[in-house]
Amino acid sequence: MPRPHGGKLIDRKINKDLSEQDLPTIEINTNLSEDIDNIANGVFSPLKGFLCRNDLENVITDKRLESDTPWTIPILLDFSKEELQDIKEGDTVLLTNKENGTIATIDIEEIYSIDKKTLAKKVYGTTDDAHPGVANVFSMKENLLGGTISLYKTKPSAFENYNLSPKETRFLFKEKGWKDVVAFQTRNPPHIGHEYVQKTALTFVDGIFINPIIGKKKKGDFKDEVILESYNTLMKHHYLKERAVMSILRTSMKYAGPREAIHHAIMRKNFGCTHFIVGRDHAGVGDYYGPYDAHDMFSEFPDLGIAPVFFRSFSRCTKCDSVVNDKICPHDQKYHINFSGKKIRELLINGEIPSEDMMRKEVAETILKFKQPFVE
Ligand code: ADX
Repeated sequence: MPRPHGGKLIDRKINKDLSEQDLPTIEINTNLSEDIDNIANGVFSPLKGFLCRNDLENVITDKRLESDTPWTIPILLDFSKEELQDIKEGDTVLLTNKENGTIATIDIEEIYSIDKKTLAKKVYGTTDDAHPGVANVFSMKENLLGGTISLYKTKPSAFENYNLSPKETRFLFKEKGWKDVVAFQTRNPPHIGHEYVQKTALTFVDGIFINPIIGKKKKGDFKDEVILESYNTLMKHHYLKERAVMSILRTSMKYAGPREAIHHAIMRKNFGCTHFIVGRDHAGVGDYYGPYDAHDMFSEFPDLGIAPVFFRSFSRCTKCDSVVNDKICPHDQKYHINFSGKKIRELLINGEIPSEDMMRKEVAETILKFKQPFVE
């Protein structure tokens, strides 16, 4: 099992009751409270809090923290001057979120600001606000707080049965006797292409960790409960119980393509995985990234500590009568059926079952049980 990123699994949970303390307070959104949970539970190890300026500048220019540890996605706490007046470095601020009940503190190391256009360009490769990640950057408040957090309380997730911390997954993998574990990131119900990359990778290791992202997604993406239910169905009918584990990752999709692929791999290393699947257009959106840009970026990180498992795009070849990719199939493209998420969505919207060449019948039926399977 790999050591956690940076060497140590971070635990920033405390038992002290903070609610009575007379501290300046900011109410944070659900994305930020998920970031706090992920810092406190070690998913974002080695981060102990929100980034200060030096770390942020290193992350956006070199894709590394000041300590030289690989890190590609800025984890930032923004606030407006109206919300927090008269605070200074060295103060402690209470962070609350009504929706998921987060109560935490941040010990402020630094108060600073950043040019959003530079941030967007470096992290997302574009300043086009049609990109959902860039739009998020532009909607951030003007100031940033850097410093260590302590988490006092958080509300259990709606999917608590699937909500394992890195400490728990590490324990579970050990208990199962899995040494090599491949992680699969997803934000979609499984089509045949997903199943194929998972099972191909699983052939070489002891177990697979299916780790869907549950959290803020863009309009038209599948709802969280639909992703979980469809995986439950697939695993029940088509996976060996002793070879596959599913648990959720509560965080928002950033759609940052290659940089997000590295970030996804780091989080799965913290969960105890040795390998990480990177297929076609990983964490991409629109045409902002090339289909294999994410593969290329891994060459910048020989010290990542988790091995990427790269896959070319799988499709179904009607001549081979099997699932293929461009490395193994000699036939013309006209014989290939792509596993298009878009096409599957269109069929499901019309209440139609996608062909079994694209999606398992049981999975499609599970999705169609939901009146509205998509984020509105
Ligand atoms: S993602 O935003 O989480 O990357 P998705 O859930 O669709 O989207 O993909 C999960 C993983 O499966 C990613 O690594 C992606 O590259 C890979 N993948 C999806 N479809 C295919 C396919 N047809 N061939 C190969 N890899 C694929």
